[in-house]
Amino acid sequence: MTYSEVEAVSGYIGNFTAKIRKKARYVDLDTCNACGECVKVCPVVKPDEYQMGLSARKAIYIPFPQAVPCSYILNMDDCLGNNPIACGKCAKACEQNAINYDDRDEIVTRAVGAIIVAIGLDVYDPTEMDEYGYTRFDNVITSMEFERLICAGGPTAGHFVRPSDGERPKRIGFIQCVGSRNPRIGRPYCSNICCMNTIKDTLLLADHYPDVKNAVFYQDIRAVGKSFEEMFQRSKEAGTRYIRGLPGDIEEDPQTRNLTVTVENTTSGKLERHELDMVVLSVGVVPPKDMAKISGLLTLSKTSDGFFMESHPKLKPVDAPTRGVFFAGFCESPKDIKDSVCQAGACASRAGALLNAGQIKIEAITSRIDEQACKKCGVCASVCPYGAITWQKGEVAVVVEAACAGCGNCGAACQFGAITMRHFTDDQYVAQVHAVLAEDPQDKVLCFACNWCSYAGGDMAGISRIQYPASNRVVRTMCSARVSEEMVLEAFRCGAPVVLVSGCHYADCHYINANRQTVVRVQRLWDKLEKAGVRPERLQLEWISAAEGQKFAQVMKQMEELRKTVTLEEIEHARAALKPKPTKEAATKKEATAVAT
Ligand code: FES
Repeated sequence: MTYSEVEAVSGYIGNFTAKIRKKARYVDLDTCNACGECVKVCPVVKPDEYQMGLSARKAIYIPFPQAVPCSYILNMDDCLGNNPIACGKCAKACEQNAINYDDRDEIVTRAVGAIIVAIGLDVYDPTEMDEYGYTRFDNVITSMEFERLICAGGPTAGHFVRPSDGERPKRIGFIQCVGSRNPRIGRPYCSNICCMNTIKDTLLLADHYPDVKNAVFYQDIRAVGKSFEEMFQRSKEAGTRYIRGLPGDIEEDPQTRNLTVTVENTTSGKLERHELDMVVLSVGVVPPKDMAKISGLLTLSKTSDGFFMESHPKLKPVDAPTRGVFFAGFCESPKDIKDSVCQAGACASRAGALLNAGQIKIEAITSRIDEQACKKCGVCASVCPYGAITWQKGEVAVVVEAACAGCGNCGAACQFGAITMRHFTDDQYVAQVHAVLAEDPQDKVLCFACNWCSYAGGDMAGISRIQYPASNRVVRTMCSARVSEEMVLEAFRCGAPVVLVSGCHYADCHYINANRQTVVRVQRLWDKLEKAGVRPERLQLEWISAAEGQKFAQVMKQMEELRKTVTLEEIEHARAALKPKPTKEAATKKEATAVAT
């Protein structure tokens, strides 16, 4: 469905329902023969988005030359309408009667088994990097604008000219990493494609215009890939100068419109000034603007750089944490065409295997609701990051097992013990806590570590043979959000001097955003401890990733230092102060027993 947008998605793996808006084109696809007569009479002139605003389009247009279907579309935001006084010229000019001003959006629903997210990318807007003068100088352009200027299907039919005077530039400078590898503007990641794109452009220029002199200003050239290094060497052999250093300033001569680039050449250590006719900013890529909407539709999580997080970087690189959803291309991370094609193929295979399976296997780690114990409060449904628990007011919650990912967040949130996480039950955890603290609890630090990051960080410390204190005892949970308040309190009752809850970095939880609840629970526990006269810092919260073996060891050392400050009196006080209050039923039973005695 072209020119359509997914508006809502419900359901789960194998059983999704998608609500799709098919937008009105105002041109009938079957009758339009793309003759173009409508364009000739349309009086509206707007910047052509596809040509990066370097040429104009009409209100009725084909969005880009290779558009499928190759048919016109009427942009109603630009159109003057069919009021005879206002316009209506295209409808009169169309011999096929293909234009229908009364066309309306159509909503369709489709049952789908799998969803592939391939929403592409946006490019960085260099307006904020004013030192490069993008908004001030006509001859400072972006690599995307360069692409249109040099393309045979572009606004100049492939004649390479500079925007200020239509002359052919002879000295061109490329500035790398504009909007990439720059923590100052919140974009610390490498965009992956810009180096090779510039190298390709320099070769293209050398081929078409041998008299052009190219200079590339860079901080690192990343030519990683098959034959990429050879391509880089070819560019140098073709005469392109590579200058290590990013320019600090660009000035324009108002008469000639030529540009002067000032740069510190970090190889020679000298300040250089380069006279150029045109500067091309090699802009990085940014997550597409629709990310937030798609992430809401499909309950997806994002990594700290804003791209979608995959289920597992090595073992499930195209799977989303929401089962039945797959990623292809840039939305997962910056990558080149080859990697995008590989990923798309992998997505198609994964989705195909799923659809052909007939039945799916799910992990055994799912939650189960005890209908007798459920108090119908709906808290579990509100904290489930996957929407895997359905609940109606006044009714028992129901777990959709196919959608449950097994984070255990619901189990930790339920105050009534009505949820059992299979293989990670409350009883199993309490038994582990008791076992760990059975002997000399005052010498131990109890650490709840999430399976995917902190526990793996501990493994990394071990593999790397990084030393850390032996007082640490780790209890593995699938997610830090599985750690309930009761589990922590029980540890203090058993005499733990220090309890550490650790998980993936805040935006990196492998269960979408479950570890937000970890923070909520730990903060609530700090309040409780304070009220009970227990030092809140005896409960610590740390984010440790799988790669941070060093940090894991460091944190364990800090915990050991903290443990040494906790006195036996404090431990005994916590034991007594955090004793569970007898429930109403237990108190009544006790009273009855006393009376009977
Ligand atoms: Fe690690 Fe959620 S999976 S904190």
